This record gives sequence, C-alpha cells and structure tokens, in this order.
Amino acid sequence: MRQARAAAPRQDYCVPVAPVRHVPDLAGDARSGLLAAPRSLPPKYFYDDSGSRLFEQICATPEYYLTRLELALLQGHAADIIGASSPERILELGSGSSRKTRTLLDACAALQCRCLYAPFDICESALIEAAGELRAEFHWLQVTPLLGDYQAGLDNLPAFDGRTLFAWLGSTIGNLTRGQAAQFLGDLHGCMQSGDCLLLGADRVKDREVLHAAYNDGAGITARFNLNLLQVLNRELGADFIPARFAHEAVFNEDLGRIEMYLVSLADHAVTLHRLNTSIRLVRGERILTELSCKYRREELEEMLAACGLSIVRHFEAPGAWYSLLLAAKP
Ligand code: SAH
Ligand code: TRP
Repeated sequence: MRQARAAAPRQDYCVPVAPVRHVPDLAGDARSGLLAAPRSLPPKYFYDDSGSRLFEQICATPEYYLTRLELALLQGHAADIIGASSPERILELGSGSSRKTRTLLDACAALQCRCLYAPFDICESALIEAAGELRAEFHWLQVTPLLGDYQAGLDNLPAFDGRTLFAWLGSTIGNLTRGQAAQFLGDLHGCMQSGDCLLLGADRVKDREVLHAAYNDGAGITARFNLNLLQVLNRELGADFIPARFAHEAVFNEDLGRIEMYLVSLADHAVTLHRLNTSIRLVRGERILTELSCKYRREELEEMLAACGLSIVRHFEAPGAWYSLLLAAKP
C-alpha cells in the first residue's frame, strides 16, 4: 500500500531529505548570530517565497553578470558535459528555478541520454514551481524534487544505482567560507560513487568595480533581497524589525577575496524578538553580516577539487576569466 502510493507521487510533492547531523533552526541561528557581536545570520534564510522570487530578479539585472556568463558556458558546452559524464541522474544542489539546467536537459534529449532529474533545495515553493515547469517542458523527464538543507549532510540523499552528475551552479559555493566550501566538497565526494561527476559554477576574482556593481544593482533589487531577511525574522521569530531603519551594503573585501553583504542600522534602536523572549540594541552604523560571496582564482578552484579527491575533466572559462564552470570526476 505504501509502495503503491510512493510510486505515484503527487505533482506538488517534494521528497524530504532528513538531516544527517543536527543543524540549528532559525531561532538557534538568530540566538547565536544576532545576540553576539559581530552580528551575522546564515544565508539560507533569504530563500522564502519572496526571497526566491527576488533572487530570480537579481539574476536578470544588467549588473549581475554571473547568471548570463554561466548560462552561456552551459549553452556552449552542455553536449560536451553530458557526453563526458553520461549521467543517469542529474542531482542539482540549490537548484532554485532550475532555469539554467534546461541547457543540460536539452543536451540529454539530443544525445538520447534519458536521465532523471533531482533538484535539491531548501525552498519548497521554488522546487514545486520548477518541477511543474520542467515536467511540462520535458515530457520524458522524471523529476524528483528533494527538499532539505544540504549543509546538514548528504548521506540521506536517495540512493541511486547509476551514474550521477551532481550540479552546483550559480556560484553558490561562494556563499560558504573557503573552509566550509572545502569541507562541503569533501562531504559531496563521500556520497559520490566512482564515475560520478560534479559540475561546479564559481565566480572569479576581478575588478572591484564590476563586483561592487553586481551586488549593488541600480534598481535596488539586491537591497530588497537583503532587507527581505528582516521580514523573514519578523514572521518566523515574531520580531519587530523595521526595514526602513536598515540599509543594504555590499563591499568587496580584497584581502579575503569575497563580497560581504550587510544590513546596516541607520539609527540607534531596539528590536524585540518575541519568540526568543529577548531584544537587541543596535547602534547607528552597526552591521549584521548576511552573506558572503567568495571569488576564486583558477588554480584555487582546481586545487580545492583535487584536494578532495576529484579529478578535473574540463575547466571552461567565460571571456576575461570572469567565471568558471568545472566538470570533475570521482575516479
Ligand atoms: N542554482 C540557482 C540558484 C542559486 S541561489 C542559480 O544558479 O541561479 C541559491 C539556491 O540555493 C537557492 O535556491 C536556495 O534556496 C538554495 N539554498 C541555499 N542554501 C541551501 C541549503 N543549505 N540547502 C539547500 N538549498 C539551499
Ligand atoms: N550565489 C549568489 C552569489 O553569490 C547569491 C547571491 C547573489 C546573493 N546576489 C545576492 C546573495 C545578494 C545575497 C544577496 O552571487
């Protein structure tokens, strides 16, 4: 009975991926990140329904070159990537709208490579929307959306008897610290089978003006995305943040090779977090770190993959070495 039901998943159903290790919830992260100095929050809380929508709008801004460059690399090399990895399943980490992944699925269709697609994301509404669109567009494709937090471990991903191409696009690796990224790649290597591949998209170090513009778009969409985090806190923690009392700030930290994104308090004021039974006092100019976006050098990316036991199969670069798309295999 259970079997029969599992075999015919509802169209709006995501398979939950259970955490392998305990990760704090928003209340725990807020307690450890917001009550201490310097204040910070993990970036995964950006992606509620409106956060995911705003991210899609960021991708379409003229300043945010990352999405366009990665899409062009995928369009140019999808057939090569699918040919070299011959996947029976594509499992995408932080898949969001899955928009760019269509290039890989088109290549699969052209090469008669009938693989499954498993988008894995923390945002259920994004998964359901993407899965619906993909099923309508690619009739041959079996889509299994996976809902969970990939930083809570990958051992509980559905087992699969066949070759998997893991995809981690959008320079989402950059949103971890370099240390966390190396650790995560080690985790990923641990759940890959011999012959599986990883397709990794990563942004590169470049002129600070270009970087600055990409995270401070003229239309203010990135600012809205950053400020939306306060609405998440208000809703989920019964907090009373007033977004108008904060400004978006994104700066390139040249020493650490990363964009750092902050919410800056524009006044001395207090905020109550009712569900935590506490309040915080912010002084004017005080910053809450909300996001990192690490920018990598070519060799650094290759070394990081090699260090966790993956061998580079291809390394595609956008013009001017602005963006990297790497295909690496577990030997
Ligand atoms: N891959 C897409 C989206 C990138 S935005 C692109 O390239 O455009 C980052 C995505 O990762 C979002 O969809 C977000 O919901 C998801 N995400 C962030 N942290 C996550 C986590 N810890 N576990 C699972 N998904 C996560
Ligand atoms: N992975 C994306 C990046 O680092 C995420 C991102 C883009 C982002 N713009 C943002 C995250 C603005 C927070 C705020 O480029």
